Amino acid sequence: MRPLTFSILSFLFFSGLLYAQALDPELEKKASELLHKMTIQEKIGQLSQVNGEYSNISSGMRAKVQKGEIGSILNEVDTKTLNELQRIAVEESRLGIPLIFARDVIHGFKTIFPIPLGQAASWNPDLVEKGARIAAMEASSVGLHWTFAPMIDISRDPRWGRIAESLGEDPYLTSQLGVAMVRGFQGESLADKGTIAACAKHFVGYGAAEGGRDYNIANIPENELYNNYFPPFKACVDAGVATFMPTFNELNGVPASGNAFLFRTVLREDWKFDGFVVSDWESVRQLVVHGVASDNKEAARQGISAGIDMEMASTTYSSHLLKLVEEGTVPESIIDEAVRNILRIKFQLGLFDNPYTNTSDFPPLVAEAHLAAAEEAAVQSCVLLKNERQVLPLQEKAIRKLAVIGPLADDPYEQLGTWIFDGNPGHSITPLSALRSTLKDIAEVHFVKALETSRSYSQSGFPEAAEAAKDADAIVLFLGEESILSGEAHCRADLGLPGAQLELIQAMAQTGKPVITVVMAGRPLALGQALEFSDALLFAWHPGTMGGPAIARLLLGKDAPSGKLPVTFPTSAGQIPMYYNHKNTGKPATEASFIHIDDIPVRAPQTSVGNTSYYLDAGYHPLFPFGYGLSYTRFEYTGLKAANPIVGRGDILQISVQLSNTGDYEAVEVAQLYIRDLVSSITRPVKELKSFQRVRLRPGESRTVTFSLPVEQLAYYYPGRGWEVEPGEFDIWVGGNSEAALKTTVEIR
Ligand code: BGC
Repeated sequence: MRPLTFSILSFLFFSGLLYAQALDPELEKKASELLHKMTIQEKIGQLSQVNGEYSNISSGMRAKVQKGEIGSILNEVDTKTLNELQRIAVEESRLGIPLIFARDVIHGFKTIFPIPLGQAASWNPDLVEKGARIAAMEASSVGLHWTFAPMIDISRDPRWGRIAESLGEDPYLTSQLGVAMVRGFQGESLADKGTIAACAKHFVGYGAAEGGRDYNIANIPENELYNNYFPPFKACVDAGVATFMPTFNELNGVPASGNAFLFRTVLREDWKFDGFVVSDWESVRQLVVHGVASDNKEAARQGISAGIDMEMASTTYSSHLLKLVEEGTVPESIIDEAVRNILRIKFQLGLFDNPYTNTSDFPPLVAEAHLAAAEEAAVQSCVLLKNERQVLPLQEKAIRKLAVIGPLADDPYEQLGTWIFDGNPGHSITPLSALRSTLKDIAEVHFVKALETSRSYSQSGFPEAAEAAKDADAIVLFLGEESILSGEAHCRADLGLPGAQLELIQAMAQTGKPVITVVMAGRPLALGQALEFSDALLFAWHPGTMGGPAIARLLLGKDAPSGKLPVTFPTSAGQIPMYYNHKNTGKPATEASFIHIDDIPVRAPQTSVGNTSYYLDAGYHPLFPFGYGLSYTRFEYTGLKAANPIVGRGDILQISVQLSNTGDYEAVEVAQLYIRDLVSSITRPVKELKSFQRVRLRPGESRTVTFSLPVEQLAYYYPGRGWEVEPGEFDIWVGGNSEAALKTTVEIR
């Protein structure tokens, strides 16, 4: 089928020209003037980012800052030290160029929000933006200017520990929420008080590391790169993200930190990015370890030539760039360009005018309002995966005794999750303490840890747990993964509950009491048996400082769960990769063709197993599909229709559906719209999320939910040709998860 060529508007939209922000001439002039005065040594100094010294300033550090040999410091958070470092830069260096101070502020600074994957389960950009806003405010108040977030790596592999830090598997959802984080961190203007520069990372393909093993190779063809992995990064550029970071791993044989295609062609030329690129921790030096550079000098040449403006932690730039320029191997113009990119952001941040931080200009850390926002974020991120016989919510009136069991019920540290450098478990409220205070005059709460940690095998605590459960009205189990089991370099091959936690659920189920399992974890887990032995299961991720009150609110029905999975839950690690937006293949699995391994007749002929794409022992269905999540109420979708089922370029599809709350609780539903391009020049996914809306309905209430979908949003990237919308039919589904059945068809002419 012949593709429709793009309208000028849509071309501009997808090429980024429409959004590329014009450079500020005033600011560019200042940068040029400054650049003009700088020696080559001072220029190279701007490209160097070093680690802080933990509230200390060594004589070596002082001398370097005085000589202008450092452009940025990461991991120093003591305000006095930061101000003194800045004073040395501004008052004692020749040109007084301020330093930019960076830190990983990933899901909160002091007030810790749910891990990013948990926040993604809220499908609520406003909430995610607010979380980043508060994090930025708290981080600014100690003197930080820059965070290494959001991480917008498409993550289809739950074995990969950093899936916790991601926004899930879907390019559209990740784009929406990644942009929300950028807006939250950066506010309206970087110059405003309480805003910090964001960093879109890790460009690109980190989540595609082979086998889910951190840092491993990624091979992603052009088609997949453009259609799946690039969109969130492009969206963040359009939203004005200030900085970018390469991924540690190689992409198609070229490590990202030396990958000129990514940083020069795509990021600068095609997308018109005008912020700066910081390497990952020692990732320029690692070009030697990857085996593409013979030594550190060559690594420096490759890094700067590829467009990595600032080097984090390793010192190949500071040691070798001068020589490389003197030899004529690296043109000074490349150094100038990198320095200009960095100065531009320093000017935008207002560092030249306001280099110092006065903490008292800011609201206090961990303010009441921050805690309230973190609690709301945790409420909205919990996903109800099972609720048999409506055991949840617990009816306060009917509960006299509650058995709270498990290693994660009262652990203020573990509920915070990965990447919480500045989080303080002292601020956490655990589920046990929240349940105790809420049920104070209503019910007795018996707590038994039963297992020392999530990884413990000793069952010696089980009898005491069974005893506590004996005369309880219900058992609430808090299980999952300690925070150290996910995050950077913390990958797992087995997705089951670690230690003897499954045995603990089984032991509790044997008491005959209702078993409510709350799982806190940094990744999707293979919960098959845990579900079997639980009457209800609430997936709470690592919910952060206010995880306890949030979970208590949900368990006790003060709120209904509204979270939806931002990533597919496979039945086992063996099913990976398992993601909803897969291709159809020429032999897709069907119910009719599927035969389970146990049902294959002995000596059956080769063709007996249906010849379609599935596992004999694990089928083809995930445990839970992308977008899945139950509520205490019931939602019904009816009357899906397109107001304009035949459209052309430039049109906006109007799709509407009737959404009704037919249950007994007021609740929020995330209505999701998926499409499928039925016939296209290259294969397209069986479903793609294109829009979603959060809708709050009272019991008995119905509402027409309308989605406006620009036809250009149905475009895909055709390798070598670019973005195209092809004429033809598209199926459109709207429903409560990616397996929604309610469908209509539209045609693009
Ligand atoms: C991570 C980055 C992080 C950096 C600085 C690296 O190990 O990959 O995401 O921003 O450390 O802490």
